[in-house]
Amino acid sequence: MCGIVGFVGKEEAAPILLDGLERMEYRGYDSAGIAVRSEQEGLQVKKAKGRLHVLRELTRDGAELSGTLGIGHTRWATHGEPNDVNAHPHISENGRIALVHNGIIENYMEIKEHLIKQGVTFASDTDSEVVAQLLEFHYHECGNMLEAVGRVLRRIEGSYAFGIICADYPNALIAARKDSPLILGYGENGNFLASDVTAVIKHTRDVVYMDDGEIAVLTADSIDVFDDELIPVDKKHHTVDWDVSAAEKGGYPHFMLKEIMEQPEAVRKTVSPRIRDGRVVLDDVALTADYVKEISRIYIIACGSSYHVGMVSKYNWERLLRRPVEVCLASEFRYSAPLVDEHTLVVVISQSGETLDTMAAMREAKRLGGRTLAIVNVVGSSIARESDDVLYTWAGPEIAVATTKAYSTQLVLMDLVGLYLADVLGTVESAEYSAIVEELAVLPEKLEKVLAHVEDIQYFASRYFNHDSIFFIGRNLDCAMGMEGSLKLKEISYIHSEAYASGELKHGTISLIEHGTLVVALGTYRALLDKSISNVVEVKARGAEVLAVTTDEFRGKMEKTADAVIAVPESHPVVQPSLGVVPLQLFAYYVALQRGCDIDKPRNLAKSVTVE
Ligand code: M6R
Repeated sequence: MCGIVGFVGKEEAAPILLDGLERMEYRGYDSAGIAVRSEQEGLQVKKAKGRLHVLRELTRDGAELSGTLGIGHTRWATHGEPNDVNAHPHISENGRIALVHNGIIENYMEIKEHLIKQGVTFASDTDSEVVAQLLEFHYHECGNMLEAVGRVLRRIEGSYAFGIICADYPNALIAARKDSPLILGYGENGNFLASDVTAVIKHTRDVVYMDDGEIAVLTADSIDVFDDELIPVDKKHHTVDWDVSAAEKGGYPHFMLKEIMEQPEAVRKTVSPRIRDGRVVLDDVALTADYVKEISRIYIIACGSSYHVGMVSKYNWERLLRRPVEVCLASEFRYSAPLVDEHTLVVVISQSGETLDTMAAMREAKRLGGRTLAIVNVVGSSIARESDDVLYTWAGPEIAVATTKAYSTQLVLMDLVGLYLADVLGTVESAEYSAIVEELAVLPEKLEKVLAHVEDIQYFASRYFNHDSIFFIGRNLDCAMGMEGSLKLKEISYIHSEAYASGELKHGTISLIEHGTLVVALGTYRALLDKSISNVVEVKARGAEVLAVTTDEFRGKMEKTADAVIAVPESHPVVQPSLGVVPLQLFAYYVALQRGCDIDKPRNLAKSVTVE
């Protein structure tokens, strides 16, 4: 959830750290801090509650701290309220060691009590400070920083990515990781550590992904990586295939709007290399036909919007594969005695590839003997590396906390995988197979058509933004799509919202519909359109105001019932949610804009959820 960055080199560290933190602010934004070391000033630390601009002002854009070695942190609070003291970096009692941490130290209380008995005084309420103090303790004991880090790592339990500097090592930065992402970057004027490539992409595209249990020592000219026994490890270098412009707003007022607008291109990049001569080709997976034919059960595991992709895919895959597909919230999966064996395919979906719940569920599925296939956006992320197979959504970096283009690319990739499996199993008619492939190929143009009507949605947002409760209703694929529309709206506009299966409303929830309640009625699934319209009539009869989303073909029919209608181009039912969701994303965006919300960094949230 938090973002960490570190630099050691031949340039002033503070401006580089602040820039890196700004690019990673979506990982957490309740406080931030940096520590920089110089020969003359020693270790200097500045921390501030609030957004990064507060720290920028406090440090005069970094000019207040001098030195070419430093670490920085942007926080999403877990232990201890967001304030200046709990902000990172944390400093050991003698002021010689500074540490930034992403993750959670589970046994921190026990260590803290032990250190207090030894006379150590703590400044903050955090689990992270315990590690800084424990480091000082072991460093005092053994007199070697690397050895001290090794001892600390053997003592602590939980998840971590650390950046560490010590006043006695003026030219070295130490990194360590377990279950929290950490990359190392090779720059021309120095080397970097960061939670995320976005923090260093301005300086280098040459990176190494640290693995669990590894420790690294960075100097201006070298990076050495060791395993948990402090034995040197050879690491593979990766070249990041996107550049700094992909992680900037490019003239848009918000990353979210930019990312919504990027969807046609992101979908094109995800689909087109995987369709050849009208067939789906998944070069990068090792699922053999023999294995596929033996699949008896499929789980899709994910959180949040990725879970909603799973909900859409359940309908599509059961239609195509004629196999049971169960969609599980990752946070529930491993506590539910899942029925996994070697004939179970477990598909995990994650934009970040770092979501702890999803990762833990995937590990459990593997432990039970299932075969895992990860659908991931971030190249080299933990889930991507641990899964048996991985397929990337080529959405590019997604910065806004509310996902849009990653969701869309996950949807189409799941359609491709569904087709691929159905083809192997022989459960899809060739006419249907070809129709879906054709629709996926032309989807980018159809998405462009939807995005060309952004003003209509802007208008509806200005008409409805002051509602305080909004329902999304639909049947089948529309119901699954409504879940995403509802989440998008609540996470960035803070309006209470619920998604409901239209047919289920009358079993209780319809009691909440009263005069003026806004209902967003989704009617893009042609097979159930008439039934959906009946449900619109039901809520209208109870005073609801209805904004309908349907297809061009059914606009006229919907207009006879709903108060307002948004129409998207027609597609094959399997692909239709990819078009229907876009007005919902835009609606959420413009409603939040009207309400003056902080769209890219909604309250209480962070982009990558690396705590359970
Ligand atoms: O990175 P992941 O796809 O694993 O993230 C899962 C959810 O945390 C994420 O989709 C979240 O719900 C988004 N903020 C929704 O916009």
